[in-house]
Amino acid sequence: MADMFAQEMEMARAMVEARLAEYFTDSGLEEAMRYSLMAGGKRIRPILTMKFCEAAGGTMEEALDFGCGVEMLHTYSLIHDDLPCMDNDDLRRGRPTCHKVYGECIATLAGDALQAAAFSAVLSAKGNWSAGEGAARAYATQILAEAAGERGMCLGQYLDTIGDGKSRTAEELTEINDHKTGALLRAACMMGVAAAMGRRAVDDSCMTAARDYATYLGLAFQIRDDILDVTATAEELGKPIGSDAANKKSTYVALLGRDECERRVLDYTERAKEALNTGEWKQKTEFLCTIADKLALRRR
Ligand code: IPE
Ligand code: IPE
Ligand code: MG
Ligand code: MG
Ligand code: MG
Repeated sequence: MADMFAQEMEMARAMVEARLAEYFTDSGLEEAMRYSLMAGGKRIRPILTMKFCEAAGGTMEEALDFGCGVEMLHTYSLIHDDLPCMDNDDLRRGRPTCHKVYGECIATLAGDALQAAAFSAVLSAKGNWSAGEGAARAYATQILAEAAGERGMCLGQYLDTIGDGKSRTAEELTEINDHKTGALLRAACMMGVAAAMGRRAVDDSCMTAARDYATYLGLAFQIRDDILDVTATAEELGKPIGSDAANKKSTYVALLGRDECERRVLDYTERAKEALNTGEWKQKTEFLCTIADKLALRRR
């Protein structure tokens, strides 16, 4: 069973890597974009996009470009998150950060351009679109725009940044995490359902279930990220440890302690899996349950 999951995971990851590699050249600004994009992230978001499309009755291929779009947007958020004006980190995905290699100006532009390229990827199907596919692309674009912007990831990063050095309540931290991390995970899952809608009828309950699953997954994911910042090694993570403390970040770990955080990760993960049951899926959602369990216990 576990092997079956690992094989499916590897197949999806390989599809993402191959497609991402086709987008940018190796020169000029594109070199800096490619440097961060192709540095070997876990690719959780595009894999979720493809697997939600499958669960809703579509194919992984139908959702591949949407997933690549989310991964580009995510990579832009990481490049900017690492800048000296934000978390000031030197290591990302096991490599020196974009600004360490190319300088702050080019890293800023690489992030900006990845954001634009993300929307282009969602909107760039070859050939003629059917009316349904056109509507699905427009829907997915809207989902991504809302997740990325001033009421989504950017709001989360803003709230996170202006809070440096201040103590936060658990409710405030949940609000920050739900935006800075939850918003893009939600977009990834919902865009998978949107991709499936291009060629077939999909029950509305699937979109709601994808949204709720991702909300709980996102809360669990960021608490695990905060735990790893104090318990893992830089070699395991591919990014510096102790970054939150260095930036005087108020995190769940600092506020509630490790044991309570571990408990909450498992609790949110259970809620994510329960949320899946509210959707009328066309295929099994086993993979989506297993990936939630694996992410809860991840070491990187
Ligand atoms: C890191 O995301 C930033 C957070 C939202 C916690 P990931 O842990 O998915 O990073 P990559 O994509 O694998 O590098
Ligand atoms: C940032 O959270 C989430 C983003 C939107 C990039 P963190 O600052 O904790 O992410 P890492 O630990 O640097 O990956
Ligand atoms: Mg940060
Ligand atoms: Mg950071
Ligand atoms: Mg972190």
